[in-house]
Amino acid sequence: MKVVGVVGLGAMGSGIAQLALEAGFDVVGHEVELARGEQARDRIGHFLTRKVEKGTMEQSARDDAVGRLRLTTELADLAGCDVVIEAAFEDLAVKHELFRALEASVRSDAILVTNTSALSVTEIASVLDRPERAVGMHFFNPAPLMPLVEIVRAERTADDVFEAAYELGRKLGKTPIRCSDTPGFVVNRVLIPLLNDCVRVLDETGVSPEDLDAGMQHGAGWPMGPCALLDLVGADVHVHASEALYEKLREPRMAPPPRLVRMLKAGKLGRKTGEGFYTY
Ligand code: CAA
Repeated sequence: MKVVGVVGLGAMGSGIAQLALEAGFDVVGHEVELARGEQARDRIGHFLTRKVEKGTMEQSARDDAVGRLRLTTELADLAGCDVVIEAAFEDLAVKHELFRALEASVRSDAILVTNTSALSVTEIASVLDRPERAVGMHFFNPAPLMPLVEIVRAERTADDVFEAAYELGRKLGKTPIRCSDTPGFVVNRVLIPLLNDCVRVLDETGVSPEDLDAGMQHGAGWPMGPCALLDLVGADVHVHASEALYEKLREPRMAPPPRLVRMLKAGKLGRKTGEGFYTY
């Protein structure tokens, strides 16, 4: 594999593109508007510059990496990619349209990857003529910093495609784990109800977000508290993932807590809107 396509250059897509550039791949980044693609390039450039400033990357390597990112608004420009990783909006209809269009644009041997966190990879791949070429690679937020990637085998994923995705995860410097296409895969199956419990505890006990976060950081060894983590992930992303899990598993703990739904409706999504449990 030499050329990686990334479709959707939001927080996850730009992080995945950054990893691919750092690993030496040529990257074609697709966004619906060029300005959004340019924002992603600036973001990647910023984080790589920080690495240079901290002495963990040479300036020439930084410039070379940023120079290997080509931006486009045309899916046809992904034709030369060996693998395309889709990190678009978490909506089945959007992913279906995208996968259909991608299959028409890319080479017949190119692998199609979805970074979905809560939808079924099997369902996403069901619109393809050749669903065996599709696989899930679920990265964690922030993608450049979190070591894990879940490699998700859909019902019809071919063995060689699954192993190629696993190998790609390793080339991107991640610790890959092999998962089946079950709701929430492995980590979100555990983490989503756990974070929902944390939010319910806020209301049940009257503890403040600051104290709950301090409790989980200093009493349970979490790298950041649950409220800070929800602000990082975004109430929109978390509520959507909770609803998707609840729909499939019908366990009350999977359903999004009313407090988070209220925050979502009020536009208090977390870091991305400047206000969530905390203000930024
Ligand atoms: N992209 C690239 N680089 C980044 C970055 C980003 N988004 N954010 C920070 N960095 C770089 C910065 O350059 C930063 O250095 P400077 O501040 O000097 O510029 C450097 O990384 C280190 O950043 P931090 O000091 O913030 O790092 P930290 O040691 O405090 O760790 C953390 C940050 C890795 C996020 C850590 O707090 C952590 O592990 N938190 C838990 C995160 C987690 O659980 N994520 C999973 C979310 S759930 C999910 O993703 C699943 C889903 O489907 C929704």
